Amino acid sequence: MIDKLIEQIQNKYSEKGQDAEVFLKGLLHSKPINYWDYIETDTLLSLQKPKTNFSDEYIFIVYHQITELVLSLIRHELNQMTSDDEMSQETMIEKAGRMERYTGLLINSFSIMNQGMDYEQYNQFRLSLAPASGFQSAQFRFIELMFTDIDNLINERGKSRMPADCTLENKFNYIYWQDAGIDHQTGKKSVTLSDFENRYMDEFVLLANKMKKKNLNQKLKDLKDRNALSDELIVAMKKLDHQLNVAWPIVHLETAHTYLNKKGETTAATGGSHWIKYLHPQYQRRIFFPHLWSEKELENWGKDL
Ligand code: HEM
Repeated sequence: MIDKLIEQIQNKYSEKGQDAEVFLKGLLHSKPINYWDYIETDTLLSLQKPKTNFSDEYIFIVYHQITELVLSLIRHELNQMTSDDEMSQETMIEKAGRMERYTGLLINSFSIMNQGMDYEQYNQFRLSLAPASGFQSAQFRFIELMFTDIDNLINERGKSRMPADCTLENKFNYIYWQDAGIDHQTGKKSVTLSDFENRYMDEFVLLANKMKKKNLNQKLKDLKDRNALSDELIVAMKKLDHQLNVAWPIVHLETAHTYLNKKGETTAATGGSHWIKYLHPQYQRRIFFPHLWSEKELENWGKDL
């Protein structure tokens, strides 16, 4: 058994033109692995840097960081799905199931925000955070661009303003999230939006170009055109579309109401958007796979909750 193993190790290294003996000798000195180094616990716990002395700001930071990590799991699956042209529908269904569980975790845990912070504390510490906003989470946008064509992220209002021969880069000026980024006093882009675009726009354009023919919507359309799209995959993808574009936005919007719209008085958000209108899925009409939904379902988008 051990001889066979040594032979396999020798083969592995000789294939790369390297000497297996050197690596085996190295093993004699290598330290055993432990949990805290592998998981980087100390690094992880050094990343929370509240800007105020309000104790609940820690909850706010940690929950955002948890969200970013979960989003990275979704991206991890999307990276594989969009780069493998040969991926079977079975594997796609398996991966859609994973993404559904990750998104479900975000939806089911949002009460940590909605019910889990002191109202007065939140409304004090958030003042120290402007003009930063969750709006500036680039992972949300990377994910959208891997799920679907940029045209599906431009709603009817944007499309009516967009020139017919709009370049892909210029389409970002009409994308749904521009609606949150106008400073309503000056009519110019808000600092929240312009900072975000300065930091990430090159990466967004690069990704949108790369995803033109490779995003998930394109893959599904291709299968549909060849009459090969399975019912199971349709169900899985519709579930994800609804989770990410209706269910999560609704729990998020409800939370904004809890903290920013108490006693019927609306408070401006740190990003400065007209958030009651903007955050509602019926207004955004962000739909990753419109061709999978019936006309009636599209008509009722976001009305079911
Ligand atoms: C008390 C908790 C929260 C409140 C009150 C809140 C409020 C808001 C508001 C009002 C906006 C609109 C943009 C603006 O004017 O700032 C927004 C956008 C956004 N927030 Fe939150 N948020 C909360 C928690 C979170 C968390 C935990 C995340 C996770 C990363 C998040 C991610 C986002 C994203 C991605 C957007 C952009 C949404 C879009 O463009 O459709 N938010 N949030």
